[in-house]
Amino acid sequence: MQPTDALARFRDRLSLPLIAAPMFLVSGVELVVAACRNGVIGSFPTVNCRSPEQLDQWLTDIDDRLKEHSDASGKPAAPVCANLIVHRSNARLEQDLQVLLHHRPEMVITSVGSPAPVLKPLRDAGALVFADVASIRHAERAAAAGADGLVLLTAGAGGQTGWLNPFVFVRAVRAFFDGPLVLAGGIADGHALRAAEALGCDLAYMGTKFIATWESMADARYKEMLAASSADDILLTKAFTGLLTNMLRPSIEAAGLDPDDLPERGAIDIGKDIDIGARENRPKRWKDVWSAGHSVSGVTEVLSVDEMVARTAAEYRNAATRLRLS
Ligand SMILES: Cc1cc2nc3c(=O)[nH]c(=O)nc-3n(C[C@H](O)[C@H](O)[C@H](O)COP(=O)(O)O)c2cc1C
Repeated sequence: MQPTDALARFRDRLSLPLIAAPMFLVSGVELVVAACRNGVIGSFPTVNCRSPEQLDQWLTDIDDRLKEHSDASGKPAAPVCANLIVHRSNARLEQDLQVLLHHRPEMVITSVGSPAPVLKPLRDAGALVFADVASIRHAERAAAAGADGLVLLTAGAGGQTGWLNPFVFVRAVRAFFDGPLVLAGGIADGHALRAAEALGCDLAYMGTKFIATWESMADARYKEMLAASSADDILLTKAFTGLLTNMLRPSIEAAGLDPDDLPERGAIDIGKDIDIGARENRPKRWKDVWSAGHSVSGVTEVLSVDEMVARTAAEYRNAATRLRLS
């Protein structure tokens, strides 16, 4: 891990260089609190809250539950990180931003667009602002806009994914950006986490692994499906969102669709009614057709966050031993 000034303010509160990734309909108060208590940065998309008022409530609850926390060694909880969708389709952006400014979060990650419009107010309120990017061009733009850190969405990531090979992407961005880098995609265990650091990243996301924890808001059948699936069960398709998204093939089949014969790009609109078939046959929504990354191969059972982080920490130590690192 290369210490950078930006992360120095909370590095000693982390047990691992890890962020529990923000996930639509998955990351809620319980997951964030459990991650932060385990020394992992706990994040959630603000749109998981029904309203700005609920966002205010969530942030208050999380803060109340973490402020007295210290682990066995006396370490306070890891930072909470809000994820702000900055795309123009997010009608709540301005309202959610105001709530965040009020709560002064330590870290914010922007998604689906340039961080430029929200950078200054968030930084003035004391937040580190990271931007997620899926191409070298977008990484250059976010760096030029002044983002404190970059999240590199790489091939195989859960949700709306990147497509670049992580080895290439990290090294290419490291050539022009010396702030903190976060690798997103393919981090299934502590060995992969160690590899992300060797590449030049300061932190990494784990998304899919955290879906399969007791504390995530995901449906129990979703968690079980993750445990039963491997990377071969991941389908890269634009059919559901119009953007490249990694989806779980068994969930597509369970929804009555053929993963090998899906309607054209964006025809199935997640979050809204499916655009095919008779109206009475349209129960398939985002809640029924599920996303996961290649890292699903690392999910073998549903665990508590405590157990998941403890296992990842053991793997991370073993990886160092194997590499003869101190
Ligand atoms: C179900 C699901 C929902 C997601 N929702 C969001 C989101 O709301 N905002 C965001 O920035 N990323 C979202 N992502 C992407 C994750 O933050 C992260 O990039 C990805 O899970 C990393 O890959 P991994 O799952 O293999 O660890 C989502 C991913 C999944 C699987």
